[in-house]
Amino acid sequence: MARQTVLIIGASRGLGLALAEEWLRRGWHVIATTRGNSSRLDALAGRFGDALVIENLDILDVQSVRALHAKLDGRQIDVLFVNAGIALSNDKTPVDVNEQDFVDMMLTNALAPVRVVELLDERVVDGGVIAIMTSGLASIANGTGFWPLYSSSKAALNMLMKGYAAHHASDAHALLLMAPGWVRTDMGGDEAPLSIADSIPHVVDTIEANRGKRGLRYVDRFNTDVPW
Ligand SMILES: NC(=O)c1ccc[n+]([C@@H]2O[C@H](COP(=O)([O-])OP(=O)(O)OC[C@H]3O[C@@H](n4cnc5c(N)ncnc54)[C@H](OP(=O)(O)O)[C@@H]3O)[C@@H](O)[C@H]2O)c1
Repeated sequence: MARQTVLIIGASRGLGLALAEEWLRRGWHVIATTRGNSSRLDALAGRFGDALVIENLDILDVQSVRALHAKLDGRQIDVLFVNAGIALSNDKTPVDVNEQDFVDMMLTNALAPVRVVELLDERVVDGGVIAIMTSGLASIANGTGFWPLYSSSKAALNMLMKGYAAHHASDAHALLLMAPGWVRTDMGGDEAPLSIADSIPHVVDTIEANRGKRGLRYVDRFNTDVPW
């Protein structure tokens, strides 16, 4: 079988970088995007050579997404994984939040990832997977009020992806909203219970397990459905 290809959007550090490393270890071809320089991604390129291609993309910059679409003409992508996200004003409420922080989260976490999917989906092969990193905090059913503004942006992401799925019901792609667990990264912080190694290999297993299956699921790293 030809080498499989994954395109990871937002892979400079944290979970995105770990996704790139995990798929490289599994022998895949990885196209990983950053919006600036990433010495950690460069170090991976040093270890894995041609198997890793690094591209520049800011998910808020539509032109950079269109440019990548053009550059990938003729390429077959087996998995598209939109990982980029931000968390701001985590302890704030609708009364004391800096409004721009909320707007930035809605744009980066909700609107932009689904727009990236809309602009790049034709590069994904039939039977392939389109995944976006959401959060367990996006679940309205399970909501506890933790990080309420960030959680709202991820719930909005889930709803936008529901809309995308409805409008693309005949596409032969598995669509996944992935909750990776609470993981120690710059965003997750030191108090998070999971290491990257506790999460990312399971995330990748779950993506691979959903290949060839159509329709949208909101799942955790163990491939278990999360209540919407
Ligand atoms: N860690 C957790 O516990 C946890 C739990 C649930 C969900 N998540 C989600 O998992 C994803 C990764 O989180 P993480 O913990 O790895 O966070 P992180 O360490 O803060 O990394 C965030 C990544 O997103 C990229 N990014 C942010 N804005 C971007 C933009 N406009 N365009 C392109 N890339 C952008 C960052 O790039 P730069 O280096 O250029 O800033 C970085 O690569 C996020 O979507 C997050 O919401 C994380």
